[in-house]
Amino acid sequence: MCGIVAYIGKKNAFPVVLKGLKRLEYRGYDSAGVALLSKGNLLVYKKAGKVSNLEDYANQFDISGHIGIGHTRWATHGLPTDINAHPHVSMDGTIALIHNGIIENYDSLRKELINQGYVFKSETDTEVLVHLIDNISKKEKVWFGEALRIALHYVIGAYAIVAISKDYPNRLVAARKSSPLVVGIGTEGDFYLASDASPIVEYTKQVVYLNDEEIAVIDLENDGLKLYNIGDQQKTPYIQQLELELEALEKGGYEHFMLKEIYEQPRSILDCFRGRLNTNEGWVSLRGIREYEDKMIQANRLVIVACGTSWHAGLVGEYLIEDLARINVEVEYASEFRYRNPIIDERDVVIAISQSGETADTLAALELAKSKGATILGICNVVGSSISRITDAGSYTHAGPEIGVASTKAFTAQVTILALMALTLAQKKGTITQSALHTMLAELESIPNKVKRVLESNGHIERIAAQYKDVSNALYLGRGNSFPVALEGALKLKEISYIHAEGYPAAEMKHGPIALIDENMPVFVIATQGNSYEKVVSNIQEVKARKGKIIAIVTEGDIHVREIADEVIEIPETNECLVPLLATIPLQLLSYHIAVMRQCNVDQPRNLAKSVTVE
Ligand code: G6P
Repeated sequence: MCGIVAYIGKKNAFPVVLKGLKRLEYRGYDSAGVALLSKGNLLVYKKAGKVSNLEDYANQFDISGHIGIGHTRWATHGLPTDINAHPHVSMDGTIALIHNGIIENYDSLRKELINQGYVFKSETDTEVLVHLIDNISKKEKVWFGEALRIALHYVIGAYAIVAISKDYPNRLVAARKSSPLVVGIGTEGDFYLASDASPIVEYTKQVVYLNDEEIAVIDLENDGLKLYNIGDQQKTPYIQQLELELEALEKGGYEHFMLKEIYEQPRSILDCFRGRLNTNEGWVSLRGIREYEDKMIQANRLVIVACGTSWHAGLVGEYLIEDLARINVEVEYASEFRYRNPIIDERDVVIAISQSGETADTLAALELAKSKGATILGICNVVGSSISRITDAGSYTHAGPEIGVASTKAFTAQVTILALMALTLAQKKGTITQSALHTMLAELESIPNKVKRVLESNGHIERIAAQYKDVSNALYLGRGNSFPVALEGALKLKEISYIHAEGYPAAEMKHGPIALIDENMPVFVIATQGNSYEKVVSNIQEVKARKGKIIAIVTEGDIHVREIADEVIEIPETNECLVPLLATIPLQLLSYHIAVMRQCNVDQPRNLAKSVTVE
């Protein structure tokens, strides 16, 4: 969702904040704004559209100042306009504030403040915060940081907030609840704040992740950073060392982050299983969940909760764990699970899958499961994220930062972890023989090279993309663990090229979607060798009989499908369980090329956000 950046120190704050906003733009990109304290003045610049719009606008002015806050917005309340962009400012022009999250009781707070004479300029929920802080500060005669702390007692919802005031030119105050916020401790007595570490890493590697209901007060004249809870008790900051490298946040010569991330997959999959398996010795181990293996094996069921692409990875996980470890698995949309009073207790293990580790629905689903006594585990990419911190245990995917909004390398890393998890449980439970385990581990180790070979088909895939770039609809079909691959392929196309696409289990096609098929409908089918191969071939025939166009992903050397399909894309042979790791890659590339040809913004598709911190 929205992105937050702030700086306080000796440097000129504007370039630092602006650069930070560009790094965070993947989180939200409908409008942006900054506020700076400069020579006793509070300067505010806001613009609808991209950060570059703000930059062009603000660069007309001579901006200096050593304290600055900046925000990129993903609209929830009110259109993406200049006025609705953050920062929002108190009526007397003293306090400026940025916010990520949603103030659920903003309407009642707003009415109360209007009754007290406050005039609202924007349609946002955020503006109530700044007026509330101003109101408390004046009534209680306290400084704005204390007023902010008191204000949080009246607020229901999620927030990461940063505020500054003209009256305190050396102070900055921040708070978080259910929306991430990290403080970077600079090397020159200065401090950085951001929604994630990406705007901070080039200045410092020392960071403090705020916990829920914590307030950070940074006072340059008085010991720098101090942490409090909202009850005003001081807390000791836990300083961590960032492992993130700057290059991971740059495009490195690729035209788009998405393409770079697609091409990183041989390495990201390798990084994911590195140190977690040994083919020669025949073992596999996920250290993060080792203590919970027995619990998982004995569990009533494993419930995977996730959203979007991570939910698709969960579906692949269901196939893997049920097939290899013979443990009952259910996969739930986190947003549905949390609101339907699920039957869950201490015999269940709930596993959240999340690239960002911040998705609001997934977090809430975990909290619900925890409150009912279940063990909660996490599979996250972002180290130190909220999900990774609230879970009992978990495994990181180690895919590195994913900046493109459409998830690619995070998906294959999640599937890799789930394969490792399935094998770990199978090994422990004895549902896999040592020789079968050995074969599977060797196969998993060969995946990065096989992904490289799939990437070599990029030119061929680009040519196929050119043929189908103008369609209005597309269908994706697969069976077994290729069904989630079909769902993921359709989601990738929708997300970045705005073509309507649906993923379906191949056999279900005849219960509805077949009515849509005519000579204009491309049908992407995962038709690799395996148990359902013959069945999928029959489904392909059914499409051809209705003049649909077939683009099939097949195993190298396949002759049969080649004869009937309009196009085939070959992937190397692998164990059926691991096909999703290879079959996904051409579908990512197809969507990428179609989106580029349609001149869509690949890395920042309209209306989407990378990290969905509102429900
Ligand atoms: C958003 C992103 C998707 C992602 C989903 C879940 O919709 O655009 O790419 O799959 O959120 O995010 P998570 O961080 O929990 O995996």
